[in-house]
Amino acid sequence: MNIQIQNVSVEYQRPILENIDLEIEAGEFVSIVGQTGCGKSTLLRLILGEQIPSRGRVLVGGKERTQPDPTCGYVPQKYSLFPDRTVLGNVTFGLNGRGARETALKMIQRTGLKESDAAKYPHQLSGGMQQRVAIAQALVMNPPVLLMDEAFSALDPGTRAGMQRLIKELWEESGTTIVFVTHNTREAAYLGTRVIALANRSIALDVSAPAEEELEHVFL
Ligand SMILES: Nc1ncnc2c1ncn2[C@@H]1O[C@H](COP(=O)(O)OP(=O)(O)O)[C@@H](O)[C@H]1O
Ligand SMILES: [Mg+2]
Repeated sequence: MNIQIQNVSVEYQRPILENIDLEIEAGEFVSIVGQTGCGKSTLLRLILGEQIPSRGRVLVGGKERTQPDPTCGYVPQKYSLFPDRTVLGNVTFGLNGRGARETALKMIQRTGLKESDAAKYPHQLSGGMQQRVAIAQALVMNPPVLLMDEAFSALDPGTRAGMQRLIKELWEESGTTIVFVTHNTREAAYLGTRVIALANRSIALDVSAPAEEELEHVFL
């Protein structure tokens, strides 16, 4: 599904985003970089439909966003698991029907957790492991649009590289449109088919469409 951000502004006490125009085609993997406080999370929440712009419109698949729904999967900046559900319970939440358990177990393993972790509760896991569960929870729904907010920032470098490969693989398999916010410009260039820099004066600059040759030089 495509994403259209049309002349969008967001103000709290001061303007955060001003007249942002951005078109994301179906199946793109767009990385968004920018300094802390420039409005990256706000932009994701607008696409999610959790927040409504002060001015302008945000459309996903041609439909204006009014509230979160299953078209957009979301991995927030801070993990947000159900504390009273096991890992498996968290990942199967929202999955229906036969095969839900097997699908969830497969995804748990793909994110590098063990099958024996499935019965554990979030408080029994490290922060990095909890974040993998949150990622598995979003991925298992196979949403047409996936929004990730610094989702790998809490992971140690080895795990992070593994998750980067996984998300790329899943994106290639599924054709999901991904918007990936990160602080790490290397990560942005490695993952994205396009990198958008959100400048402090809230202008979305299309800084690059990284070429294959360039990507090979990205050190992880
Ligand atoms: N609910 C809110 N009320 C008031 N100010 C907010 C709110 N949410 C975010 N902000 C402010 O908006 C700015 C952009 O926030 P955010 O989108 O979280 O930036 P980023 O993710 O790029 O660090 C920050 O200055 C932040 O303090
Ligand atoms: Mg943020």
